[in-house]
Amino acid sequence: MANLVYSEENRFEKLAKQIADLIVERQKEGKNAVLGMATGSTPVKVYEELIRLHQEEGLSFQNVITFNLDEYYPMPAHSINSYAHFMREYLFDHVDIKPENTHIPDGSTSLENVEEMIKYCTGYEKKIADVGGIDLQILGIGRNGHIGFNEPGSAYNSGTRLITLDAKTRMDNSSHFMGNENIPRKALTMGIGTILRAKAIILMAWGPGKASIVQKTVEGDLTGQIPATYLQRHDNVQIVVDDPAAAELTRLKTPWLVKMCTWSDNSLRRRAVVWLCQKTKKSILKLTDEDYNENGMSDLIAQQGQAYQVNIQVFNELQHTITGWPGGKPYSDDTHRPERAFPAKKRAIIFSPHPDDDVISMGGTFLRLVDQGHQVHVAYQTSGNIAVFDDDVVRFVDFALDFNRDMGYEDKEVQKLYTNVKKYLKEKKADQQDSPEIRKIKGVIRRGEAKAACRFCGIPDENAHFLNMPFYETGQTRKKPIGQEDVDIIKNLLNEIRPHQVYAAGDLADPHGTHKVCLDAIFEAFRQLKETEDWVKDCYLWLYRGAWHEWSVDEIEMAVPISPPELERKRKAIFKHQSQKDTAVFPGNDPREFWQRAEDRNRATAQIYNQLGLAEYEAMEAFVRWHF
Ligand code: F6R
Repeated sequence: MANLVYSEENRFEKLAKQIADLIVERQKEGKNAVLGMATGSTPVKVYEELIRLHQEEGLSFQNVITFNLDEYYPMPAHSINSYAHFMREYLFDHVDIKPENTHIPDGSTSLENVEEMIKYCTGYEKKIADVGGIDLQILGIGRNGHIGFNEPGSAYNSGTRLITLDAKTRMDNSSHFMGNENIPRKALTMGIGTILRAKAIILMAWGPGKASIVQKTVEGDLTGQIPATYLQRHDNVQIVVDDPAAAELTRLKTPWLVKMCTWSDNSLRRRAVVWLCQKTKKSILKLTDEDYNENGMSDLIAQQGQAYQVNIQVFNELQHTITGWPGGKPYSDDTHRPERAFPAKKRAIIFSPHPDDDVISMGGTFLRLVDQGHQVHVAYQTSGNIAVFDDDVVRFVDFALDFNRDMGYEDKEVQKLYTNVKKYLKEKKADQQDSPEIRKIKGVIRRGEAKAACRFCGIPDENAHFLNMPFYETGQTRKKPIGQEDVDIIKNLLNEIRPHQVYAAGDLADPHGTHKVCLDAIFEAFRQLKETEDWVKDCYLWLYRGAWHEWSVDEIEMAVPISPPELERKRKAIFKHQSQKDTAVFPGNDPREFWQRAEDRNRATAQIYNQLGLAEYEAMEAFVRWHF
């Protein structure tokens, strides 16, 4: 039976401590600690903490033997995309582990002879058995329920083997490969049987993208279609999740079904009523006492009177979130409006982590703010220079060359650049990072697109600020941690504009991505400015969601309707980002284009409001206010 731990404070530190305790305990017994290791984004913070324990608290890895779950196939160990490289970069190179004690399935094993491959895989199993088996296995989980690379359909007793990666897995892992065609189709993985033989297992999952699969793994029936459900049969499994990954579990999603609740919490009541509407397919004002009683919410009615009163209250709360005046409605009563009426003309800054998040995530609101006469600035936090295809670089340098030639400008430098760029890109390997020169050109391409979108939305060129935050400029998907230099850039801009409103990408649940880092820098800037600057107390910080998720209706504090022509304008603004059009370098795990995702998402929000009995709009953008 799995032991479920969620919403843990300091969970990375606690997990690392648990591993460290095992290592130390074994040291005292004069024995080795055998660890099963995972790669991917999930264990990174735990590995960082293990490194800190080694460097600052003297934790030694001399008695540690590791076996990694998997490796892409084919994959040379020195490639930056290999899991062998990942382990060196994120752990092995920073601790005193003996290289001969680390084992990772070898992606360069020859497949010419299947017998040889089978021998290699059984050899991997034997090595594990020879050291007494795995003491503690660390696992992440794929959105399809894979553990290791045991894709749906894997057998309960499967061993180490070569498998074909599922389309969903390839898409999820695309962010590490420049272009989908470079993602391997196969992998070597320990089997489910191998994993279940570990004496103890810890499965970790972070972020809303894992919520649905965590729910199925913990609460669903045991099935080969979701290999992680096999963990239910192991008697020493810990499942550690953060709040967003736990969100679909019954005890959190619908706590009223499993325990008595304190209904004085408005947001819980709102969530429950929205859920009840969706369950009964009724609008809020049509819910009856029976609906509440028959769906596990009788205590809400018992505590708060009749359905009628609860319905009216929740209906009004939701009604008050809707406003066509995101900058506040001038000269009108703002008691129940999300934004203040005064000052009538506000200064707003939209922070955009990448050069297109502003228009994708809140293009409709951006246009409204400009149309309603507010002074709107956009601050592009990063250059976005890793997400441009190489052939666009050649195309733009070629343009510069032709432009100079036709205009009669001196073009010796550009000619040289063109030759260099073509040569560099021709010889560039699939897993090679770009030269600083290429990165600069890619940054210029994205800057041009962002400027075009700003012009389209109607703001002057000088209101588009390109912050080029240093943490991003590594040329790789892995970034540096944010430093005071990043925070200072944000502080300087905030102090220069002294905004009444700030909009930021509120991907609070994304533990490693650029959006979360960009948001942390904004939070830190506000934390520091609050101490000294008076304007901060008059500034509202509104969080929009990035390209991937939307706020749920019960969380939304401002919903801005978008009319059909506005949606069309928003789409055109997104189209200005041509390097991301048709197929993006980093599309993530969604095959739709960014404008399609944005429209589907904005339409879905409007539909939910409408199904709850509120007005019917074409689309809506949603925001939550952050109180600092
Ligand atoms: C990696 C592995 C995979 C990942 C899973 C989640 O060694 O075995 O099962 O744990 O795909 O990946 P992330 O952590 O990137 O979400």
